[in-house]
Amino acid sequence: RRIVVLLSGSGSNLQALIEAQSHDRLGGEIVAVISNEADAYGLKRARDAGIDAVALPHREYDSREAYDGALIKVIERHEPDLIVLAGFMRILTPRFVQRFLGRMLNIHPSLLPAYRGLNTHAQALADGVSEHGCSVHFVTEELDGGPVVIQAALKVSADDTIETLKEKVHAREHLIYPIAVGWFLNGRLQYSGTGATLDGTAL
Ligand code: GRF
Repeated sequence: RRIVVLLSGSGSNLQALIEAQSHDRLGGEIVAVISNEADAYGLKRARDAGIDAVALPHREYDSREAYDGALIKVIERHEPDLIVLAGFMRILTPRFVQRFLGRMLNIHPSLLPAYRGLNTHAQALADGVSEHGCSVHFVTEELDGGPVVIQAALKVSADDTIETLKEKVHAREHLIYPIAVGWFLNGRLQYSGTGATLDGTAL
């Protein structure tokens, strides 16, 4: 089973997936990492792990449609079973989402459906919520709105800052993303059109 990872930045989630793969806990192989930012640290992580690292800078394309068209071509060259978004900071076109519907996952730093979009930690702090966390979900055309697959929650303490929260959430992300990817690649996790199922049971 073949995985393509898309990212824009540090790639600590990619690193967690690479480590899971090296312990045979992923059920597949990361065959390529693609970034819209040529200097993303995640590309270096990929190279260091011997994975094909591809920079595809969005600034070289005139429109979102043109970029996503080029991205589809690069992805399909690698014949993936699963596309993993790991900090890929781009809004995807409907055509792109449709092409990979049911075989594309994203990780988001909030307990969805709370706090879609950006600045999730700041919003959680401003609201004074007692729990925060992260979610893996199938990607649909609705931004951060696809069916949730797995979540990790943590207690927010009085002295938490955006930075401490971000760090705590990140540590949870690294735990749950390899689990979700492993479920999918082992045929246990499916997108049903309306939701997600694990071992045939609705999540
Ligand atoms: C994570 O916080 C993830 O939830 C969000 O982007 C960030 C990526 O972090 N989608 P990293 O590049 O994997 O360290």
